[in-house]
Amino acid sequence: MTVTWTSGYGSSEATPFVKWGIQGQIQILSPAGTLTFSRETMCRFKAPPYPGEDSQQRVVIFGDMGKAEADGSNVYNDFEPGSLNTTNQLIKDLKNIDLVIHNGDICYASGYLSQWDQFTAQVEPIASTVPYMIGSGNHERDWPGSGSFYGTLDSGGECGVPAQNMFYVPAENREQFWYSIDYGMFRFCIANTELDWRPGTEQYKFIEHCLSSVDRQKQPWLIFLAHRVLGYSSATFYGAEGTTEEPMGRESLQSLWQKYKVDIAIYGHVHGYERTCPIYENVCVAKASDRYTGAFTATTHVVVGGGGASLAEYTSVRARWSHAQDLDYGFAKLTAFNHTTLLFEYKKSRDGSVHDHFTIDRDYRDILACGVDNCPETTLAA
Ligand SMILES: [Fe+2]
Repeated sequence: MTVTWTSGYGSSEATPFVKWGIQGQIQILSPAGTLTFSRETMCRFKAPPYPGEDSQQRVVIFGDMGKAEADGSNVYNDFEPGSLNTTNQLIKDLKNIDLVIHNGDICYASGYLSQWDQFTAQVEPIASTVPYMIGSGNHERDWPGSGSFYGTLDSGGECGVPAQNMFYVPAENREQFWYSIDYGMFRFCIANTELDWRPGTEQYKFIEHCLSSVDRQKQPWLIFLAHRVLGYSSATFYGAEGTTEEPMGRESLQSLWQKYKVDIAIYGHVHGYERTCPIYENVCVAKASDRYTGAFTATTHVVVGGGGASLAEYTSVRARWSHAQDLDYGFAKLTAFNHTTLLFEYKKSRDGSVHDHFTIDRDYRDILACGVDNCPETTLAA
């Protein structure tokens, strides 16, 4: 005979046994075993860590991936040759990824809806296992006379409609596609560069509210995301216009990044990888490093646009702020170990190897500390 019961006691709190025998006679004590299970051992839906939760949180971020044919059947018209490498590398490592953010230029369907089907089939192993969040890029949104900030033909007439219907984002207005994610110790503020972001606009108000309203004691890691490069890039197509960013990008937003102490700003659009020193108003406030400790100096800007689409070239003149470059396919991985240590890794899609990385070690009191232009000005009279 097998006797089973639930006790509510842990095996460390009580010794389980069965007392049995004929009534009125000597009773025998037989030892029993304990089997336990918890929420984690079941096949249940996994909720995200609550805002401020202190657990290891791993977030993969990249832009500009697109899709490709596994059998090479479209090789002569393949604009996104690195796409399968990125997808396959993420699938291989899914057990070490909690959240994926595809930072604009999703599938380059240009109005051909079957290409969205091809893309969603390609990312299904990822998107069916972990949250797959997207941002808006020029290839989702831009079309002349449609209200996009740029009047290019890049969306092929989609105007963001397939993207916003196929991928849910927690935006107040999904047509605007700017939103925030509170994920454990992270806050992500995700802008939409295809709509106006300049001071006085609705989007600018959103960005300031997103950056200013986070409780850094609970969520120390503040990350700004946008598809086009609003910070710094050495791409030749910016250089050809005599600039290193989208015009009116950092001019509009750098005071906010500095004031609210944004740890990292991440962009796509330029197909490749580049990392700056901690920089403000075009000047390195601190020396570029693999390890930052203590008080915040300035935001580190990173372009992670090598998800899969054909690579962009860099200018031959290397800017002083350009610390690391990689003209290859790859993706970023952010690991928040706890409230004081964040690891940023840039990995190559071809083999998953880490090509560039840095850590930030920062206490809450360091976040509160004043640096350049991020605390109220004081005067002798004050
Ligand atoms: Fe783009």
